[in-house]
Amino acid sequence: MISRRAFLAGAAVGVAQPLGAAEDTLAIGAARAGLIFGASIDASAFDNPAYLDLYRRETQMYVTDVALKFDWLRPAEDVWNFDPADRIVAAARAEGKLVRGHTLVWNDNAPAWLKKLSNREIERVFDEHIDRVASRYAGALHSWDVVNEPFWPMDRRIGGWRDGPWFSAMGPAYVERAFRRVAAVDPKVKLTLNEAQCDNDGDWGRSIRPLLAGLVDRLQHAGAPVHAIGLQSHLQPKFPRDYADFARYIAGFGAKGLEIYISEFDVDDSVLPDAPEERDAAVASLAGEFLLQALAVPAVRLVTTWQLSDRYSWYRGLPGNRANGARFPARPLPFDDRFRSKPMRAAVLNALEKRAADLRRLKP
Ligand code: XIL
Repeated sequence: MISRRAFLAGAAVGVAQPLGAAEDTLAIGAARAGLIFGASIDASAFDNPAYLDLYRRETQMYVTDVALKFDWLRPAEDVWNFDPADRIVAAARAEGKLVRGHTLVWNDNAPAWLKKLSNREIERVFDEHIDRVASRYAGALHSWDVVNEPFWPMDRRIGGWRDGPWFSAMGPAYVERAFRRVAAVDPKVKLTLNEAQCDNDGDWGRSIRPLLAGLVDRLQHAGAPVHAIGLQSHLQPKFPRDYADFARYIAGFGAKGLEIYISEFDVDDSVLPDAPEERDAAVASLAGEFLLQALAVPAVRLVTTWQLSDRYSWYRGLPGNRANGARFPARPLPFDDRFRSKPMRAAVLNALEKRAADLRRLKP
């Protein structure tokens, strides 16, 4: 049975509910829980009507995925490829969706031309890049991942910093410089520090958590404009987990007045059993276990998955996915290759419904 509310919501955007889908979309379930649900998107989705339809129906927010990454945007110093991001922003505006920009500053994925520059030239490119990109989209975005993955202990820098051109030219000061610079050109956008691995209860995640918390303290102490912490949450069943402890950790950011975004949600299924039904069940179970804890934290304001259908997941293209022993195409997302709902979607809806019920109890 389709509820009157869900039916009307579907009718409002001119989309019929698909046969067999749970009665609410993820966007509707999220709204009821006081959250935004969205997903990263590639501009190629605009040439794929069935996939686009899924985004229109199930999400309230588009994340720019690769379109605004430095190396995609600027394959050469004087080549700016704004088309894909412009398409995403224009479509979102036409469809009444929000947009998250990902990402202005990341020490990974730097193009060769950037690495060849002197430190002084790198600083110039840094400022110019932020000014040009942030001002182009000023007023159009909900939030910016200003800095992505500041820490990467495997790079063996003192302080656990991720190495790369920005870090080697400016040291840790690049982070505050970036936040202040974006705020100067786009004063309304929510400025986010996005980090990986904090959900991992092993050495890697455990070493990043205090580094991130320390950086946030220093930024706040310096009066830098930081509004939100993004936790990527690419869950990996091969790592130890303690999601109750993760929830306490992120609640600490909430206590400091910051919003929390579950920003790149998916489940790496490369170590799970081969049989698709078993894998789908395990992926759903882990996703549900995580979200039931994370969404109990009131400061969590949005959940965005990394793509929406398994067919376009980044894990499909990662060599590591096979290296981990996977003999099958990855199935890390709420929808399968043919855009049909998977058990993970039901698990996400269930966690959203739990938060909505908690909200109702707080505000009768
Ligand atoms: C991924 C993209 O989705 C892929 O298309 C690309 O090949 C590799 O990067 N953490 C991040 C994202 O912050 O930018 C990454 O996106 C996934 C991991």
